[in-house]
Amino acid sequence: MGLAVVLLVSVPVLNYLFFSKVTNAGLSFTEPLQLPALLEPKLINGEKVFELTPIAGETFFRGEKTARTMGYNQGFMGPTIRVNRGDNFVANVTNTLDVDTTVHWHGMHVPPEMDGTPHQNIAPGETWVSRFPILNEASTMWYHPHPHGKTAEQVFRGLVGLFLIEDENSQGLGLPNTYGVDDIPLVIQERLFDDDGGLHYELNKGAYYGDTILVNGTHNPFVEVPAGLVRLRLLNGSNARAYHFGFEDDRTFHQIATDGGLLEAPVAIDRIRLSPGERVEVVVDFTDAASVLLKSFPENGLLETAESVLADLIGNGHFDILKIVPQPAIIPPTITALPAKLNDIKRWHPDEADKVRRLVLGGPVTAGPRMPGPGPRIPINGKLMDMARVDEIVCLNDIEIWEIVNRGGQPHPFHIHDVQFLILDRNGAPPAATEAGWKDTVMVEANETLRFITQFTTYSSTHVPYMYHCHILEHEDGGMMGQFLVVDMECDLDAPIVLPGMTHDH
Ligand code: C2O
Ligand code: CU
Ligand code: CU
Repeated sequence: MGLAVVLLVSVPVLNYLFFSKVTNAGLSFTEPLQLPALLEPKLINGEKVFELTPIAGETFFRGEKTARTMGYNQGFMGPTIRVNRGDNFVANVTNTLDVDTTVHWHGMHVPPEMDGTPHQNIAPGETWVSRFPILNEASTMWYHPHPHGKTAEQVFRGLVGLFLIEDENSQGLGLPNTYGVDDIPLVIQERLFDDDGGLHYELNKGAYYGDTILVNGTHNPFVEVPAGLVRLRLLNGSNARAYHFGFEDDRTFHQIATDGGLLEAPVAIDRIRLSPGERVEVVVDFTDAASVLLKSFPENGLLETAESVLADLIGNGHFDILKIVPQPAIIPPTITALPAKLNDIKRWHPDEADKVRRLVLGGPVTAGPRMPGPGPRIPINGKLMDMARVDEIVCLNDIEIWEIVNRGGQPHPFHIHDVQFLILDRNGAPPAATEAGWKDTVMVEANETLRFITQFTTYSSTHVPYMYHCHILEHEDGGMMGQFLVVDMECDLDAPIVLPGMTHDH
């Protein structure tokens, strides 16, 4: 009886002592939020040509000294690329770093040789040209490096930028859409600073977790917005942490988009989880002109037991993120209501699938080389990433169901290149309204089977693969990644397909 009472009391007390505290408490929110500049393209022969130059930098964040950083065209982070569906996009990427890099267009439907994977390595001094038409619908995409085994450190140094797509639908809806005024990008990342303000990349708890939040590279930020409806485009650009965003006053806001496009209709919420690599667009009503804090709360349920928090840092972030200060004088808010309908989403019936593919996350490693990257060795279907091995072969235009089975004890944000997918179910249950749109990255919970459906169209190659991987960057660098080809040939999947210079070990 006495023991039971002690246990009943001790769990909330432990929670209070260790977990209900704001990790980064005490911010003064005095730094104006930096807004990534829009990158201006040159118009050449009907193409929009963008110049992206990865460079090394020195950036002051806090403390006394600068930190060693990297950026695109600037010392830290990159400018925002904004295009319209149908544009012919070209990027000239000139690597001025002293290390190899690549630029990957996360979420976008592009040819495999233009995707910026480890197979499109850019050595120091080289220029890589990536050219493709913008086929994706209006959405918040992003770009980041993807070099073999070195992605995590380069993203940590600052190589990350936004890639916004607009189309006729998004422009006709009357959504807040003035960049940096009522349509504000928020790239959320975390860092662990040295006492003097320096940064060094070192794993803690199996990945890179920090105790300091940067929003668009700004520490301690505030932003002034119009006192009306404001659209926030949130990207979790952190290496490993998932956030649960909401406001300190628990106000309701509306989610309007998932990773790859607008939802069919706005969804009223007061929290939204974002795992590494995921994006959402939300619209928040600041008509009351009251300042409010955007926060990240610990995951529901994680507060219930001490073990789950300790075992599972990924969802444990309790942070103050950004002070939002509505200013009635900024612009007269022109948008006063959200449209009831945002988008049409064409949904496949599971019976239409040509193939069901099963990927098992975690378990023992049965194949794969030593990876150059740090991080735990977590396999997919028993295998660690091998640049010379094709893991899956998909037939062009096939509709497929991918069944992602998480056998490990921790959640993994699963990401696939080339396509946007629709979640069918999680352990048999249909997805929440917040996830019922186009996705390219999705958290697969421990002991969960998640099924999604997609179609592999337009691009094929007999020798250049796309990737799928965990978007905890230390897991990716440690080998939690596989390669798939989309092939345009007689698709007898039981017959071995022999590829020049590659093995297909299915
Ligand atoms: Cu954002 Cu293959 O990654
Ligand atoms: Cu990607
Ligand atoms: Cu993982």
